[in-house]
Amino acid sequence: MHRRFISLIAATLFALVPLIGACQAAVSPQPSPTIRPGERWLDTSGLFINAHGGGVLFHQGTYYWYGELKEGTTYITAANKSWGGTRVVNGGIACYTSTNLHDWKNTGLALPPSKHDPDSDLHCEKVMERPKVIYNAKTGKFVMWFHQDTADYSAARSGVAMSDTPTGPFKYLGSFRPNAGIWPVNASSRDKQPNADNKLAQDFEGGQMARDMTLFVDDDGKAYQFYASEGNPTMHVSLLTDDYLRPAGKYARICVGRSMEAPAVFKRNGKYYLIASGCTGWLPNEARSAVADDIFGPWTELGNPCRGENADKTFNGQSTFVLRVAGQPDTYIAMFDQWKQWDLRDSRYIWLPIRFDNGAPIVEWKANWSLSSNKSSLTASKAP
Ligand code: GAL
Repeated sequence: MHRRFISLIAATLFALVPLIGACQAAVSPQPSPTIRPGERWLDTSGLFINAHGGGVLFHQGTYYWYGELKEGTTYITAANKSWGGTRVVNGGIACYTSTNLHDWKNTGLALPPSKHDPDSDLHCEKVMERPKVIYNAKTGKFVMWFHQDTADYSAARSGVAMSDTPTGPFKYLGSFRPNAGIWPVNASSRDKQPNADNKLAQDFEGGQMARDMTLFVDDDGKAYQFYASEGNPTMHVSLLTDDYLRPAGKYARICVGRSMEAPAVFKRNGKYYLIASGCTGWLPNEARSAVADDIFGPWTELGNPCRGENADKTFNGQSTFVLRVAGQPDTYIAMFDQWKQWDLRDSRYIWLPIRFDNGAPIVEWKANWSLSSNKSSLTASKAP
C-alpha cells in the first residue's frame, strides 16, 4: 500500500514536469508592456500621469510626452456655462519621459504657470491647452506651441516657448493671433469681402483666431501649425518660419465649415493624414479623418476612423496626437483624451494602434494591447 502511494506521487510529479517547463517558457521573456485605454495610467513613481491634450516628441532615443497639467477642483465660470466649458486652475505644461512608451517618468513642469501676474498669458486663471513640442535641427532648440487663451476662450491665440533642452524649463516668448495681414493661399475674392459673417476677413488685420492646434514637421524639416479658426468652423494650415517661432506667412483654409477641433496630423507613404473631432467642448462626438497629397490641400474627408464599442463617440475620447513609433516601420499610435467634464484632473488617455485599410486610417477599440519593443507590429493581447 505504502509503496503504491509513493509510486503514485512519483507518477504525478513526472506528469507535471512538462507543465512546469511550459509555465517557465510562458513567463520568460518579459511580457511587453500593456496599454489599457481609458484606465488610470501611473508614472514610474506610482502617480497618475497628468499630461492632457498632449503630444509626444521623440529625440535621441527618448520619448517626451508634453501635456496640460490638470489639478484641483473642476469649476465653471458664468461666461462658459452655456456650452459646458468647465475648467481647473491652469497648471502649466507637464513633461514625462520614456524609452518604451509605457513607463513614463515625470520630469516636472516644462512650462510652469504664472501664479502672481494676472496680466501674464500663463496666469493660472488663463488657458494653456494642447501643447506640442518640436525640435529644430537648424537652431538646436526645442520649440513649444500651445493654445493660449483667456478663461472665456475669447482671445484665441497661439503661445510659443523655447528651450535648449527637451524637459525645459521653456522660456516663454509670447502669444499672437497667426497670419495678421495675410490672406490664405486658397482664399477666393468672396472670402476676402468683409461682412458680419466673414470671420476670416474680420480678423485679417489683427490675425486669425487660433484655438485647438497641433504642429507637424515634414520630411524636409518644414514645420506647420494646424489650428481651429474663424470661430472654430474652419481649420487653417500655416507654414512656420525656419526657426519654428512664427508663422511664415503662407497658410490655407481646409475642411471649411466642418467645425473640426483637436487636430492630429501625420504622414504615411507621401500622404498627409488628419484625425480630428467635431466641436462639442469636453463632450465626445464622432471623430473625422482626412487625407491630402499636398499639406495645403485639397483635403479629402475619409469619415470616422474609429471602429468597435463606442466608435460613434470616439470611445468617449477626443483626438490629440498621432505618434509614430521609432524604429518600427509603418507603426502609428492614435492618442485621444477621455475627458471627465466635471473632474478634469481624472481625465484618461486612450492610446490605440492605427491600421490602414485602402489607405484610410482605422482605429479599432481594444481594452488592452501590448507594445512590443522589438517587433515591427503592435500586438493586441487578451485581457489577463
Ligand atoms: C474642446 C477642446 C479642448 C478644450 C475644451 C474646453 O472642444 O478640444 O481642448 O478647449 O473644448 O471645453
